[in-house]
Amino acid sequence: MKILILGDVIRTAACMHLKDNLRRFCRENAVDLTIVNGENSAEHNGIGRASASMLFDAGADVITTGNHAFKLYEAKNLFENNEMILRPANYPGNVPGDGAVLIDACGMTVLVINLMGVVMMDPLDNPFYTAEKILKRYEGKYDISVIDFHAEATSEKLALAHYLDGRVTVLFGTHTHVATADECILPRGTAYITDVGMCGPDDSVLGIEPSCIIDMMTLHMPVKFVASSNKVTAHGILVEVDRKTRRATGIRRVTF
Ligand SMILES: [Fe+2]
Repeated sequence: MKILILGDVIRTAACMHLKDNLRRFCRENAVDLTIVNGENSAEHNGIGRASASMLFDAGADVITTGNHAFKLYEAKNLFENNEMILRPANYPGNVPGDGAVLIDACGMTVLVINLMGVVMMDPLDNPFYTAEKILKRYEGKYDISVIDFHAEATSEKLALAHYLDGRVTVLFGTHTHVATADECILPRGTAYITDVGMCGPDDSVLGIEPSCIIDMMTLHMPVKFVASSNKVTAHGILVEVDRKTRRATGIRRVTF
């Protein structure tokens, strides 16, 4: 079984890039399940009805998010009405939507979980304990599990991965928009990467026109962030899972 995971989609141009290229990539690589982080997919950041439907049309099966999940007011309805769009599970319990979902792919039931880090980010519930609670809630109901851990600190991502090693099939990081070169199978069998990178414009600062960020960092005044209009590249990982053992057997970085 092959699972394609794509990092933070940066605004409409990246949605269009996926619409033009994702189905072909999945066909050529025999992908069975596609998970995409869509928290930056709306034209002014966040996720909205239009960008979510573009991502599903492009071929996403599950959309995960992070700290920008509720940036647009309309996102509240989106999370309430589509269980395949996740917000981080460690938000307070009365927040709309859910942070975990079951989906069938390739004759297997996959538990997809979305968590957010709390180091240098909003003080949500502890992601370690939240992961424990969700794995317990779904115990016996799934074959393999995948976690999008949307977090800033590499140490927090690595620590959660080692904490859950052997208990989840895949744990990948998102949010920092720069792909890391540490993809591996951890000692007890979990496929891991600190950050899968973004689907966004080349030659940018995390998707934004460099001059905006340079102004912000040199002038110390509010600056309007304008998305770079450079060519878009999609960054992600392709994970292979053995259907008999239900273990990850390979993880590699992909771009298209
Ligand atoms: Fe983020």
